[in-house]
Amino acid sequence: MKALLNSLFKTAIQAAFGEAAADGDPSIQLAARPEYGDYQANFALKLAKKLQMKPVDIAKAVITKLDYPTIFKSLEPSGPGFINISLTNEFLAQHLQALIHDDRLGVAQHKHPETVVVDYANANVAKEMHVGHIRSIVIGDAIVRILSFLGHHVIRQSHLGDWGTQFGMLIEYLIETGEYKQTHTVSDLDPLYKKSKECFDTDPVFADKARARVVALQSGDEETLAIWRQLVAESLQYFQKIYDKLDILLTEEDARGESFYNSMLADIVEELQQKGLAETSEDAIVIFLEGFVGPNNNPIPFIIRKKDGGYLYATTDLAAAKFRMHQLGATRLIYLTDARQKQHFAMLFATVNKTGWAANEVRMEHIPFGAILGKDNKPFKTRSGESIKLISLLEEAENRAMAIAYEKNPHLTQEQLTEIAHDIGIGALKYADLRADKIKDYIFDWDKLLSFEGNTSPYLQNAYVRIRAIFRKEPIQWDEVSNTSIILTSEIEHILAVKILEFPDVIYTVADSLALHSLCDYLYELAATFHRFYEHCPILSQKDKQIRNSRLLLADLTARTLKLGLDLLGIKTLEQM
Ligand code: ARG
Repeated sequence: MKALLNSLFKTAIQAAFGEAAADGDPSIQLAARPEYGDYQANFALKLAKKLQMKPVDIAKAVITKLDYPTIFKSLEPSGPGFINISLTNEFLAQHLQALIHDDRLGVAQHKHPETVVVDYANANVAKEMHVGHIRSIVIGDAIVRILSFLGHHVIRQSHLGDWGTQFGMLIEYLIETGEYKQTHTVSDLDPLYKKSKECFDTDPVFADKARARVVALQSGDEETLAIWRQLVAESLQYFQKIYDKLDILLTEEDARGESFYNSMLADIVEELQQKGLAETSEDAIVIFLEGFVGPNNNPIPFIIRKKDGGYLYATTDLAAAKFRMHQLGATRLIYLTDARQKQHFAMLFATVNKTGWAANEVRMEHIPFGAILGKDNKPFKTRSGESIKLISLLEEAENRAMAIAYEKNPHLTQEQLTEIAHDIGIGALKYADLRADKIKDYIFDWDKLLSFEGNTSPYLQNAYVRIRAIFRKEPIQWDEVSNTSIILTSEIEHILAVKILEFPDVIYTVADSLALHSLCDYLYELAATFHRFYEHCPILSQKDKQIRNSRLLLADLTARTLKLGLDLLGIKTLEQM
């Protein structure tokens, strides 16, 4: 819709003031308030300087060139130079009509698909996932779905912490206790890991052996590697269980841990030194970057090799960035971690920009997100102050949703209830995460996120179910309905039509900004608008056949938009609940 209005306005600006005036963006936006119409154009304010004219006069002159009575019901200059745009019902109806047989609901494939790497769900091998991991997984999955839907080639990468000195400790401990002969889940490994750390800190003999074990691991000692591989495999299996429970697209093939880049690190450091980007400072190899200074204006180094020759997180990320551009062919790199890694990524991107690795422009984005807080505004923890295991959180979501589902529908079978509880519980958890502005911390509140009122996924899932129920109340001749011409007979039908037709623009914007909460807000507004429509416009009791069928089509389009929108967020809809 925006693209169409933009192009009409561009042509009109050109007709009124010539080519040069029309080279900018006509700034078409949704109307800030319903009394302003459907959309607004704000270009006149920007053009005023260039043309040395009053914005209102510019607006008026452009309006005279927009003589499309079938599209515009009215075009009103307003305020300091806005144009309020009201669209005709015929124009809206015609566009809705085109969506009836369109599975994509008007969302076009991107004209220039890109290869995009999304780096998310970055767990650590042999460590339990906790509540802090959920945001990266859920936000990353929604981004993957949206970009794929637009036709981009999306490569999922989970940059697992699977390498480093801690594995020396753990493997040595497993060998000494004979534990390595057992199979483990991550829940077993987590305490073993803690014990190995204890031994390391208190027993110097063990500490020496653990250090030797790191060297053995890094130099490819077969016995050590075999145990390490087992740890990785056990961890991946465990993570996969969590991903499956979360209905996340990730598979084991998407795991490319830090170990994968190990063999490339020495070359990366050498390359950066040769390019004059890295230098030796206090026996370490570091990169100094403009604009990164600490408290006393001291430059902050981006360290890529330690004094003892070891490589770091930064080195691995440099190797990964190069690999993703050169081997995977990515032109957009998206990273999801919590906000504490902001500086790391800023320095990583600044460094990569200097390497010349990107042949053409490569867009690198770090999507930082805030923490999850408890109702007391402190980090969300168990009562005894421990971090909450992610798996327990997911199970609790299902259990709580089960109680709600049972209360609503005690007559359903256990199997049906289990499925409903899963879709509601996991959906609610994901939605709470997605709708929060990702940058900010958000407060975790079971009652709110599972509520059927307000901007929650149970509310949206329920809105979908209620629309679908309309279609079950009476036998409906779908052939006849879908061949009916949509007619918009009331103000609220007009508003609902504008809302439905906004969907593609919301998706395009989110694919660019990655601000997923705007898709959540849109779906919530759509459902709320539908409720108003349903209150004011009788559907099944409507005597006029065409109006009845047209309203059924509006209901169906709303339901399909809700379903597709939730689907792109990774949330399931149910036909009944
Ligand atoms: N495993 C890391 C952590 O737990 C996050 C990895 C993020 N991705 C990356 N390419 N650095 O903090």
